[in-house]
Amino acid sequence: MRIVCGVKTYSTPAAMQRAAKLWKQEGRRIGFVPTMGYLHDGHMSLVRDARKRVGPNGIVVVSIYVNPTQFAPTEDLSRYPRDLKRDRALCRAEGVDALFLPSDAVMYPGRDAGAYSTYVVEERLTRRMEGASRPAHFRGVTTVVAKLFNCVLPDVSVFGAKDWQQAAVIRRMTTDLNFPIQIVVAPTGRAEDGLALSSRNAYLNPEEREQATVLIRSIEAARTAVRRGPVGVADLTKAIRRLIATAPAAKLDYVEFFHGESLEPVDEVRKGTHMALAVFLGKTRLIDNGRL
Ligand code: PAJ
Repeated sequence: MRIVCGVKTYSTPAAMQRAAKLWKQEGRRIGFVPTMGYLHDGHMSLVRDARKRVGPNGIVVVSIYVNPTQFAPTEDLSRYPRDLKRDRALCRAEGVDALFLPSDAVMYPGRDAGAYSTYVVEERLTRRMEGASRPAHFRGVTTVVAKLFNCVLPDVSVFGAKDWQQAAVIRRMTTDLNFPIQIVVAPTGRAEDGLALSSRNAYLNPEEREQATVLIRSIEAARTAVRRGPVGVADLTKAIRRLIATAPAAKLDYVEFFHGESLEPVDEVRKGTHMALAVFLGKTRLIDNGRL
């Protein structure tokens, strides 16, 4: 264990597990927020939620790990933004008790030599949306989150509504694999103009950043449309496509309308239906979602 800037830091599963077991012996609840770092206020709102749930005597753990198995070879793993110094300062300011900062070598021992061979796969909720657009993505997410749970041994873990499908998949995995962990989904933190906060927003040039509001504007347009009554999926999709076409840097990857809990697609979109979309702004792929 090292103490840097007042936040205890653990870098191996064994050290993290040892600390977690001691906290448990002391009767302290453990709240856990897994992240890939480059923290923003969306992440920090999850930290505040975790603190509320474990209380002042509880332990809040944040992991920062850019998990290679959830990126396809063509994706942004190597250029994913990193700033550990700033992340640490943000965690310290928010009263985080411990950081878990594992390396690839300890998370996936022998992966480069082909020795690492165990993965966790959710087979139903991952079929559409992010799962369809990014085929190996959720296998990496469920695998790493299961591993992180086994290292941090949390009582409660907080995920963001920003990644709605991810949260549903993690909830399912936790139930299916009998992790004794409460999964909490906390609201999406947004910039003043409505853009969902994301580490990937750092990739956007000024024009792309301005046009990136087309995601939240699409959700708001759909909300307005269903206020007058149910709308067909095809018609609403067409309207969203037209709206996105007004932003020259934007290219729609997908838009879907589904039941918020089951993630099953709907035939007709009405108040309460959930909408999710993925849009490229130049090379940067952004996602957002909301209940209509
Ligand atoms: P990352 O994108 O860093 O996000 C970490 C957590 O913060 C996730 O639960 C995500 O939903 C949440 N989050 C991101 N932006 C948010 C926002 N604007 N408002 C509220 N919450 C937000 O998601 C991942 O990392 C990874 O897939 C991970 C779960 C850590 C596994 O590698």
